[in-house]
Amino acid sequence: MPLLELTDVRTGYGSLPVLHGISFAVEQGELAVMLGLNGAGKSTTMMAIAGLLKTWSGSISFEDASVGRLDTAKRVQRGIVLVPEGRRVFPALSVTVNLRLGAWVRRRDRKALKERMEKVFEYFPRLAERRNQLAGTMSGGEQQMLAVGRGLMADPKLLLIDEASLGLAPKTAQELFQTVKQISKTGVTVIMVEQNAGALDVADRAFIMEKGTLIFQGAGDEELKATDLRAAYLG
Ligand SMILES: Nc1ncnc2c1ncn2[C@@H]1O[C@H](COP(=O)(O)OP(=O)(O)OP(=O)(O)O)[C@@H](O)[C@H]1O
Ligand SMILES: [Mg+2]
Repeated sequence: MPLLELTDVRTGYGSLPVLHGISFAVEQGELAVMLGLNGAGKSTTMMAIAGLLKTWSGSISFEDASVGRLDTAKRVQRGIVLVPEGRRVFPALSVTVNLRLGAWVRRRDRKALKERMEKVFEYFPRLAERRNQLAGTMSGGEQQMLAVGRGLMADPKLLLIDEASLGLAPKTAQELFQTVKQISKTGVTVIMVEQNAGALDVADRAFIMEKGTLIFQGAGDEELKATDLRAAYLG
């Protein structure tokens, strides 16, 4: 039984259709990478899974239960957590406060909160060094680490990371992918939306989207190399 399964999901904005029937599954513990050009519908897919966008039809099941009608807060409680595109940290708040806000739905459990923050600091030592710094004064890469760290604070079973590497230097992006791999090895299932093909190095599964449809799914980079898609999409 897959952890997450989308079946023929259709949605869009207003009356404009964007996803034209998306079906895929991700197994527990997998690190999946979703690639595709600008406007392909990657973020729309992530928002549909996280409940930020209602689906028009089709189903989304998580841990064998239908979650497609639940609101975002309920999905977070079930363990579906989105790190949205564009480093949405709170600039005027410190690193620590940003992290604490990530655990808002579980804020009453102080001990667990402290443990999770220590865990985030292990993954991202840079955040520990800068824990009292205002998020808005951190570098782009540091803010991206903070955005991922904040997602981890909600104790996700499924972490959706939308273009974490955007604007990062290649080396910084690779480090981030390696850290995400470490996170996935602890049993957290991850879907990473990327335009950086370097992410395939850590992927257990790869998806390619084009114009609101999934045009490829396979087991990581090997299968993708066997097609001409890799060259077409990623240069
Ligand atoms: N709020 C919105 N209102 C109307 N159309 C939207 C909205 N958000 C996205 N779209 C449209 O939906 C389509 C898919 O957008 P989406 O953001 O999912 O693409 P993407 O694959 O994430 O692209 P990128 O790599 O540029 O982030 C695009 O044509 C976009 O213009
Ligand atoms: Mg996007």
